[in-house]
Amino acid sequence: MQTFSEIADLREHITLLKQDGKRVAFVPTMGNLHEGHITLVKSARDYADAVVVSIFVNPLQFDKADDLNAYPRTLEDDLARLAQEGVDLVFTPTPEIMYPEGLERHTTVEVPRLGRILEGAARPGHFKGVATIVTKLFNIVTPDVACFGEKDYQQLALIRQMVIDMAMNVEIVGVPTVREMDGLAMSSRNGYLTVDERQRAPVLAKTMRWISSQIRGGRSDYDELVLDGNDQLRAAGLEPDRIDLVDARTLEPVDANTTQLVILVSAFLGKARLIDNQVVDLPESKDEEDTSAE
Ligand code: PAJ
Repeated sequence: MQTFSEIADLREHITLLKQDGKRVAFVPTMGNLHEGHITLVKSARDYADAVVVSIFVNPLQFDKADDLNAYPRTLEDDLARLAQEGVDLVFTPTPEIMYPEGLERHTTVEVPRLGRILEGAARPGHFKGVATIVTKLFNIVTPDVACFGEKDYQQLALIRQMVIDMAMNVEIVGVPTVREMDGLAMSSRNGYLTVDERQRAPVLAKTMRWISSQIRGGRSDYDELVLDGNDQLRAAGLEPDRIDLVDARTLEPVDANTTQLVILVSAFLGKARLIDNQVVDLPESKDEEDTSAE
């Protein structure tokens, strides 16, 4: 495994891989790697001959300076883990390398609708930062395939949209969320939890599964479901942020054309803001069932 922080050095080695006829898969990360990231790396292997991983805590996607400064950085452990996985190249640039003239002067990429709704509304500028850094990383790595986690559902949808809109020549692969034994979605931010908070954290996933089972059972009073969900979170000592039930494809409100919805949940627990999501197939409505029975 070779590690580079300079763009030109990484490019040179990627050119060599491509000259050998190798297909390149890419996994962008912000480091502090856990099994979720490692699962992305493993699936990347299935799609290509060489795997490139980037580790870069991207300042442009953080809306709060405290959050950026507190973000866990564990480069040595991360590199050891990636070497174990047989990763070929790792890119570890500094903010000065990625934003030599500062954040303010850097060209940005924005996905208008998907970038501004839901998480985008809660965290202004966040998705502009994500779209910009992912574009730049794609231009540096020129991957054939790139893997992203379904854990960050809106991020994955936004990247897919950006790749279509900008005719980027890269296949986007979504990888299912990796969870702890108790259902908590793995996240670098779980490290912020105290022992007591960690014990309560799985309630986020549990509440989401409860909402999902209610919908599959035929409930469609979504506003009530959200209120009930918030109550369950509060009862466990979590501070609910948002629960959104939206069309899984468009992330717009559910309408007559919706066949799958996604439950997007977020809650504060101590210093952490936890997010999770689950896609639910909508049961056929009573009318349709009646028609098909005729
Ligand atoms: P980061 O939070 O480090 O996540 C890197 C990738 O790992 C993302 O695609 C994310 O969805 C995926 N991931 C995180 N936890 C996961 C889990 N439990 N199961 C499956 N996949 C998981 O997301 C980012 O970094 C950044 O926004 C980035 C795309 C690197 C741009 O800076």
